[in-house]
Amino acid sequence: MTINKTGGETCRLRGVVFDLDGVLVVTDRYHYQAWKELADDLGLPFDSKINHQLRGVSREESLQRIYGSRPLPPPEEFKAQCDRKNERYKELIRQMDENDVLEGAAELLIQLRDAGVKSAVASSSKNAREVVERTGLHRYIDFVADGNSITRAKPDPQVFLVACEGIGCRPCECVGVEDAEAGVEAIRRAGMVAVGVGAQAKDADCWVQTVGDLSVDLLRRLVERLPENRKNC
Ligand code: BG6
Ligand code: MG
Repeated sequence: MTINKTGGETCRLRGVVFDLDGVLVVTDRYHYQAWKELADDLGLPFDSKINHQLRGVSREESLQRIYGSRPLPPPEEFKAQCDRKNERYKELIRQMDENDVLEGAAELLIQLRDAGVKSAVASSSKNAREVVERTGLHRYIDFVADGNSITRAKPDPQVFLVACEGIGCRPCECVGVEDAEAGVEAIRRAGMVAVGVGAQAKDADCWVQTVGDLSVDLLRRLVERLPENRKNC
């Protein structure tokens, strides 16, 4: 059975759009270290619990959240603090390589490529391209939409729409894969099927523990909306 999503047209899987950080690669610890060093210097509390709340959140919004209810510094100082964190983050990700790719991610990307399904990245990070290249994922990814491609952050759907366009697919032909709540909302608002990965993304059309639990077959069935596969992966 195939259920139509776009008033009469049948959608088949043609593309998969992946969030990067926390879905394909592990960058959490580098973001954590860079924010922790800055926060310690500024005398602001910061721990891994706060760091988790920054998943999928832009650099500026992250610093605002770290300040919490404390008064923010003047804009130039605020920007300098964001830049400082970013410089440190960039220094840290220089050590990234294929070992930072999450288990099963490269295998899934290869399966997709062999099946003729396009793969794209939709990341809030302005450093996404560098991470994709350092980890070797550029070999399997057809298009990267990142923090430099957009004017509106997740949960706005913009980055996912730019990614769909980059791989020449309509949103209804694509599955989006995310580990952050705001990202799942962005995928939904883009009109795509949403797959959630990990503890913070349970409110998706389909939820899995890791990206390695996905297969081309399952993604196909999700786009074709076979009811038994929704919320039941
Ligand atoms: C997201 C990360 O992918 O990118 C966030 O999950 C990060 O933690 C955001 O703040 C922005 O990244 P960057 O590299 O542009 O500071
Ligand atoms: Mg993420």
